[in-house]
Amino acid sequence: MSIEVPYVDLGAQNRKLKAELLAAVERVIDHGWYILGPEVDAFESRLATRLGLPTVIGVNSGTDALLIALRAAGVGAGDEVITVSHSFVATATAVRLLGATPVFVDVDDDTMCMDPTKLAAAVTPRTKAVLPVHLNGHPADVTAIGAFCRDHGLQLVEDAAQAIGAEHAGRSVCATGIGAWSLHPLKVLSALGDGGFVTLPDRSRDEELRQWRNLGLAGRGVAAHISGNSRLDALQAAMLCVKLDHLDAFIDARRAHAAAYREALAGAVRLPPVEKPGEKGVYSAFVVRHPRRDALVEGLAARGVDAKSHYPVAIHQMAPFADLAHGGLPVTERVVDEIVSLPVTPELDASGRARVIEAVLDVTRAIGRVDA
Ligand SMILES: Cc1ncc(COP(=O)(O)O)c(C=O)c1O
Repeated sequence: MSIEVPYVDLGAQNRKLKAELLAAVERVIDHGWYILGPEVDAFESRLATRLGLPTVIGVNSGTDALLIALRAAGVGAGDEVITVSHSFVATATAVRLLGATPVFVDVDDDTMCMDPTKLAAAVTPRTKAVLPVHLNGHPADVTAIGAFCRDHGLQLVEDAAQAIGAEHAGRSVCATGIGAWSLHPLKVLSALGDGGFVTLPDRSRDEELRQWRNLGLAGRGVAAHISGNSRLDALQAAMLCVKLDHLDAFIDARRAHAAAYREALAGAVRLPPVEKPGEKGVYSAFVVRHPRRDALVEGLAARGVDAKSHYPVAIHQMAPFADLAHGGLPVTERVVDEIVSLPVTPELDASGRARVIEAVLDVTRAIGRVDA
């Protein structure tokens, strides 16, 4: 059967906003400020206000955001960074690109984010920072992780690539740590290409990081640091300003899909974590679990529903990371074999959602429900 409910239709959101996006592009063409300048400034200040964070530094991708955030935490050659293996590979890649070593700890079985109780066993004299990931738009427990960092003199860097709009303890994620965020087309707030940003819990190093994203330049043609070109593109910033006006609607739509799935699918599959008081998830992915993951994905495809797995291979299971020692990651290894991401984008309509629900119920009647 052909796919009738796609996992995502990347063009759908942008086609709806086409007139506004084209007007923004035209404005940039006309004013001629193509590198940094007013579009990037406007996006950064509006986004900082929306998130309630002191500063936003626009960069070219979530990966470079991680590099800059880790560097801001003082991570360099020979250091260790405690992180998770259940993430997109960029989380660990960034650590390695800086010459540091990722030390993987297991995830919590419910949230699938870093398990704070595993941190103590992973600390060594070389540990510089802890890097939790707000996976699938669900906030990691940065209260417990942050307390651990304070007690051990470690830096907290948060991979919030998937978590724009997510909250922990009633505030945006990255309120206390250095934040690395992505604006990749699959993210909750998405560019029409690559983009990302760094956030800081205070403005004390704001200027320095702005220099790092721009070849270390402190003035016209004068470098104060050795650094790469990680600038957010002005055209992307102009279009992102358009999309920022719709961010709350995008998040509300994702959360409405999530609520409907929760109600309809309880017992058929294992559901994503429930929000605790003060938490808000943004469902960059709606990840259910089933012991027969492949059968579920194939069954959904046979019924016209496209589902994915984020991510089917844990980072420590990939060849470039296989040399890394860790203390055992049993939860991570079980989780990656069970996870299925259902369509949850704002563009999914009510009939598409109903098709997904019907298909999951139908397949799990055949392959077994988790409550059976
Ligand atoms: C958890 C996580 N970290 C980092 C990244 C890297 O972001 P980008 O693709 O914008 O470089 C992504 C997304 O792609 C991600 O999901």
